[in-house]
Amino acid sequence: MHRTSLPLPIVVVGHVDHGKSTLIGRLLHETGALADGKLEAIREMSRKRAMPFEWSFVLDALQAERDQGITIDSTQLRFRTRKREYVIIDAPGHKEFLRNMVTGAAQAEAALLVVDATEGVREQSRRHAFLLQLLGVTQIAVVVNKVDLVGYGEQAFARVAAEIARYLAGLGLKPASVIPVSGREGDNIAAVSPRTPWYRGPSVLDQLDAFELNSGTADRALRLPVQDVYKFDHRRIVAGRIESGRLKVGDRLIFAPSGKSAHIASIEGWNRHAPQISAVAGQSIAITLDDDIFVERGQIASRAGALPGVFHDLPVRLFWLGRKPLVAGQRLKLRLATAEHWVNVTRIERVLDLDRITWHDGEDVPPNGIADVVLHSRSAIVADAFADIADTGRAVLMDGYEIVAGATVRRSAAEEQAAARNITAVAHAVQREERERANGHRGGVLWLTGLSGAGKSTLAMALERRLFDRGWQAYVIDGDNLRRGLNADLGFTPEERSENIRRAAAAAALFAEAGTLTIAALISPSEADRARAKSLGGEGFREVYVKADLATCEARDPKGLYRRARRGEIPAFTGVSAPYDEPASPDLVVDTSAAGIERCLEQLTEFVAREFAAPSERAVSAGL
Ligand code: ADX
Repeated sequence: MHRTSLPLPIVVVGHVDHGKSTLIGRLLHETGALADGKLEAIREMSRKRAMPFEWSFVLDALQAERDQGITIDSTQLRFRTRKREYVIIDAPGHKEFLRNMVTGAAQAEAALLVVDATEGVREQSRRHAFLLQLLGVTQIAVVVNKVDLVGYGEQAFARVAAEIARYLAGLGLKPASVIPVSGREGDNIAAVSPRTPWYRGPSVLDQLDAFELNSGTADRALRLPVQDVYKFDHRRIVAGRIESGRLKVGDRLIFAPSGKSAHIASIEGWNRHAPQISAVAGQSIAITLDDDIFVERGQIASRAGALPGVFHDLPVRLFWLGRKPLVAGQRLKLRLATAEHWVNVTRIERVLDLDRITWHDGEDVPPNGIADVVLHSRSAIVADAFADIADTGRAVLMDGYEIVAGATVRRSAAEEQAAARNITAVAHAVQREERERANGHRGGVLWLTGLSGAGKSTLAMALERRLFDRGWQAYVIDGDNLRRGLNADLGFTPEERSENIRRAAAAAALFAEAGTLTIAALISPSEADRARAKSLGGEGFREVYVKADLATCEARDPKGLYRRARRGEIPAFTGVSAPYDEPASPDLVVDTSAAGIERCLEQLTEFVAREFAAPSERAVSAGL
């Protein structure tokens, strides 16, 4: 509501001597931000020293006061227009700026990129533009400065404007405007200038006023990281700050990574006359739920259809601030929203040479270096791609109590492709909840993993029969069957298995979305692939470990494959010549070497009744 009164943090960037300081000095002057007499004092001083006055002296003078600690509260430069207040935070290249930006301590929401009309795009113009892109600053205006030196000529301006626009386009950035400016003469800064009659765009201040604060966060998917859970009387209150999106009483929240869900029963508040029924990004709130599910600090609440990702291997772009180079194998603590995880740097994929703006292979990341790396965690990390939702797509890495890196979550290859091909999701007219109500149970994915011969398919088919007989919509997605159709092009290399699981999980997720209790039966030997399957499956995904030791499976050998594998006829056979990662924390374990099929089926049925019954019927187990 009071949005316009919040200051908009901006950054002014550009090549050395292209006129950043002059522009800032002008902006402070034109908006009346300078203390009375300040400008006169500086003019007087230049006169005494027989130096022609420069607008950048204003900044130098303020900097000197800052250094001597004369001015209180001058750590940041502020000015105000009729619309709102602005704070100029430092410039990229400056280490502190980078540190603050990448750790989230200060987030520039908009940038002015200054380019000299006589010189055009130079090395730092490129580097700073690149950093803006890396840091996710997308609201950009280009200021083509010193147009007085090119005689206010339209063509000289147009050449530089086209050059910088082309470079920005290559980075996927589009400037909101390209403004011809003379910092020295004051053209097109506070008002459009009569000396550039051919220019039709806004002045610098008008352009700044047109930028948005927290652009669009309220309209994005809901993300409510859980800060704390309090017990009051017999009620539990979940507290946190809405980082993006909005919510209202009655909404169904899904908590990642557990996948548990409940409806918002109330939004708590003190000193309020009327009960609050909704809240939006930026607000800190406390809510109660209609169901006693397990919620803890670090989880992120969101809504069906737009869930965050769940990762054991998190691809990030990392800004290394440590004093020693970062090497693979290093163990650090990751802080993302309200969660903390121990992570290992498993892979350094590429390192950026910021001078040449090129990526190359690298064994380590030097201090102040930027690199794409993969972080592995035993616990499930809930996150979004930074490009999608910044606040849950940004993290810091700690070594002890020291922040040693800022990181932004990269998009997956699939997300990148979809974004690049301009693919956006289309909403259904029938909601999943409606389908579930009609079915009388929830949709979801029951993911059975285990060795070949452990009993996955047998149990899956028996369970499908039983559920069907009791009126459920249930369907088995079986690895062997998929490999006869959808996945007929895939073999058993780790990459192909990974793709096999991805497709199976994506198909299972569609069935689940359609309201079906989907039973997936695949060896799925890799923990990482299963984590991705879980992330695709969303809230209704449950991992079941169909357990049987290798000796038992080999003794059963229903398809005679173990015998052939032992004879060396089947390469990379799981359990024999290819690994199987035992699930670290499955939702259910059925041990087929310890119990008979009937008993295991019983166990599965009970589990399904408990986890997938319609909410109102959960107590009576949906008549199973
Ligand atoms: S997964 O590893 O990619 O998850 P999936 O469950 O789809 O495997 O397929 C496993 C089935 O493929 C086994 O039941 C078996 O019949 C057959 N198969 C053929 N070659 C192999 C192999 N090298 N390892 C495991 N299973 C294999």
